[in-house]
Amino acid sequence: MVDEQAIKAAQEKFGALLRKQLDRVEVLKNEGAPVDYSKLDKLIIGVCGGDGIGPYICASAQRVMEFLLADKLKAGKAEIRVIDGLTIERRVEVMKAIPDDTLAELKACHVILKGPTTTPKKGDPWPNIESANVAMRKELDLFANVRPVSVPELGIDWTFFRENTEGSYALGSDGINVTDDLAMDFCVATSQGTDRILRAGFDFAKKTGKNYVSVITKGNIIKTTDGKFLSMAEEIAKEYPEVKWDDWFIDITTAKLIDPARRSAFKVFVLPNLYGDIITDEAAQIQGGVGTAGSANIGTKYAMFEAIHGSAPRMVTEGRAQYADPCSMIKAVAMMMDHIGEAEKAKKLNMALDICCQFEKKLVMTGRDTGATGNEFADYIMETMQRPDIEKVWQGYIDAAIAAAKN
Ligand code: IPM
Ligand code: MG
Repeated sequence: MVDEQAIKAAQEKFGALLRKQLDRVEVLKNEGAPVDYSKLDKLIIGVCGGDGIGPYICASAQRVMEFLLADKLKAGKAEIRVIDGLTIERRVEVMKAIPDDTLAELKACHVILKGPTTTPKKGDPWPNIESANVAMRKELDLFANVRPVSVPELGIDWTFFRENTEGSYALGSDGINVTDDLAMDFCVATSQGTDRILRAGFDFAKKTGKNYVSVITKGNIIKTTDGKFLSMAEEIAKEYPEVKWDDWFIDITTAKLIDPARRSAFKVFVLPNLYGDIITDEAAQIQGGVGTAGSANIGTKYAMFEAIHGSAPRMVTEGRAQYADPCSMIKAVAMMMDHIGEAEKAKKLNMALDICCQFEKKLVMTGRDTGATGNEFADYIMETMQRPDIEKVWQGYIDAAIAAAKN
């Protein structure tokens, strides 16, 4: 017997979801122009430690940020605000992905540096509330998740543009258990949301001269939402005649990223939310692990910069949080510098990260007391940035690595 009552209840819930998404479309239609950072009297930077190792690695990254922005901070042209309400304890206390007062504090900033936050799943000791990351991306409309991965000696220079507010994530906490036996989740693609992420990828490819975009979907199976992503890509690509583009399915793309004969040809990827989540972990692993990758979440009004890994609560319970590697958060600082118009500072920091983490390795991080602490490593990075010959040193290491890879 079909449970008509259950269908009716599910239809009502579905109707409410549709109304909310259609309201969102109206908001997207009236989206303003992006913030011009050069016009701000004062740049407000929020620092949000998060959970587990988050406050530790975030504090180390904050020191690097303060070092880079020392002049601006002193002149009152930038201000750092520490926001500490985004912990799992606090979120559970108010049973919200982001407590209201914390959200108001976040919205009073222009850019945010955020440590990893614990994301509960069914069966965890915490109630199964929505992820703070996902909520922040939605609340601040951070639609483009930009994740660069580079391994010069393998010829790899990839930039991922992951759609960050729609796809399978948009209603990830709003699925419906229609009956005890039937669970349904939903995937969302709007014209406005798809258009802006595709344009972000194509604009970047054009501006940087990378000139090659790969659009990744599973459009042969997920015909409606991924189908829309793909057909809009076909149209938008026509506006970028100088940018070469192609499309791939997500499954073969995961294989091609580990195919030495093909992978170095890829440059810019544009892809829906869930595929972007999965494949950027794979890409980061090729670069040296998720601890080596930073992540920028860009919107028109706000931007948030974070590590791509989780909060590693075990390191805290085992008393070794001070040995957690802050490099992914420091990488996020470099991405923030680029975003706020400090390209030179970003470049220097990226060179120092390469020298310290990949090449010179005067200090190493092991996650235990056999290695350096996060703060010691941050000091090493700041010292390296001050070397007058940093550019030459960096180029030397890169050239040697390329030569070694050829042999
Ligand atoms: C990421 C993370 C997040 C995501 C989690 C922590 C919610 O995996 O930023 O890739 O799934 O997007
Ligand atoms: Mg992820």
